[in-house]
Amino acid sequence: MTDTRALAATVLADVALAGASLRERLQPAQARLADPRDRALLTALVSEGARWWLRFDPALDTLLQKPLRTREPALHALLVLGLVQLEVLKVPPHAAVAASVDATRALERGGFAKLANAILRRWLRERDVRNAQLDRDAVTRTAHPRWLLDLLAHDWPGCFDAILAANNAPMPPMLRVNTRRTRRAEALGALAQAGVEAAAHPDLPDAITLAANTDVTRLPGFAAGHLSVQDGAAQCAAGLLDLGAGLRVLDACAAPGGKACHALERANVDLLALELDARRAHAVTANLARLGLSCRVATGDAGDPAPWWDGRPFDRILLDAPCSATGVIRRHPDIKLHRRRDDIAAMARGQSRLLSALWPLLAAGGTLVYATCSVLRAENECVIDAFIGAHGAAQPHAFELPAGRRAGAGWQILPGEGGLDGMFYAVLKKSA
Ligand SMILES: C[S@@+](CC[C@H](N)C(=O)[O-])C[C@H]1O[C@@H](n2cnc3c(N)ncnc32)[C@H](O)[C@@H]1O
Repeated sequence: MTDTRALAATVLADVALAGASLRERLQPAQARLADPRDRALLTALVSEGARWWLRFDPALDTLLQKPLRTREPALHALLVLGLVQLEVLKVPPHAAVAASVDATRALERGGFAKLANAILRRWLRERDVRNAQLDRDAVTRTAHPRWLLDLLAHDWPGCFDAILAANNAPMPPMLRVNTRRTRRAEALGALAQAGVEAAAHPDLPDAITLAANTDVTRLPGFAAGHLSVQDGAAQCAAGLLDLGAGLRVLDACAAPGGKACHALERANVDLLALELDARRAHAVTANLARLGLSCRVATGDAGDPAPWWDGRPFDRILLDAPCSATGVIRRHPDIKLHRRRDDIAAMARGQSRLLSALWPLLAAGGTLVYATCSVLRAENECVIDAFIGAHGAAQPHAFELPAGRRAGAGWQILPGEGGLDGMFYAVLKKSA
């Protein structure tokens, strides 16, 4: 039998100390646990461990004579998880301590059982003073890296605290209904029958909100392609594309295919889903198959159209550009650990490169939708405003979304606003 906490510690050590992706590392670990309650505990431990790493990782150093981080990464992560269980997950102290001590043995590090017990008990005795110390510095109070705090304070001074609070608040997944296969009312009825608390999103026609986290793959209708996981902010793309039957549409950065599939569910468009990463392109194909949809899927670089473009202009282009993903930290808390300050300028250069390469592929009168799940102005309005300044035919189109505000020539939703993820959109029309 697998010890869930020991497994969580090895996953968290890989994520926080060796740069592994939380989502990619969690999936195979889940497969080792048979009981859904253990899988839910594993997800909670690893997600909250990553979310609060920048608070409890330095806290642990102050409790140890010699740091364990490099010598014993899994043990270090196990003790961080002990603190996370006590302070974030509110596990009763005796259970959190006993389970952490047991997990040292499951990690074949039973020689550290006494140390684990002593460290966690000392924390419990001194927790008020120690928490107050951690709250004095913004990095350990909010568990965000300093460079990101600086950028958020610069870009969103009035919304700074709300962004950080949203990033630290776990959110149940949102669903999208495949209206080719069912209606939202029917999907809600099936969920209610299965005892799943869910509601129709008031502003987004295909969206369903869930009251609690759940294994979505086991929801009624999921395997049959009635439902997909997609936040409401991402569901706004299909509306902005202003789709119609027969239109030639390019989704230039398509994997795993959330927005492409939504477009195909909405309209009979002729869509090319392009993706740089061949492995991720397979995810698009798998999602199309599950949802009963079809389109061309190609592997290629959106910034170098010659190898994959047939020369016929597109009526619609979606550029859902690779970005810092600083708008979806609440769903992917390892972003706080993996991104670096220098990434942002590099991302912005890449976004401008893709925009410039794709613009000539748009038909006169056509529409390009630029999207990122970033909240940083450098990747959003700065990229778009510079592009418009340099391309006379690029006309910004004004629009409003259910949450957020105008940002330059585009629209920014900040995380948590209207219950949505952080997302930026701009809509550019090409004049004839
Ligand atoms: C934000 S994700 C797209 C999400 C997707 N649109 C959806 O809704 O499911 C960005 C994707 O762009 C891909 N990508 C990055 N650089 C690219 C490039 N130069 N050309 C094409 N795809 C690229 C990444 O591998 C990643 O899968």
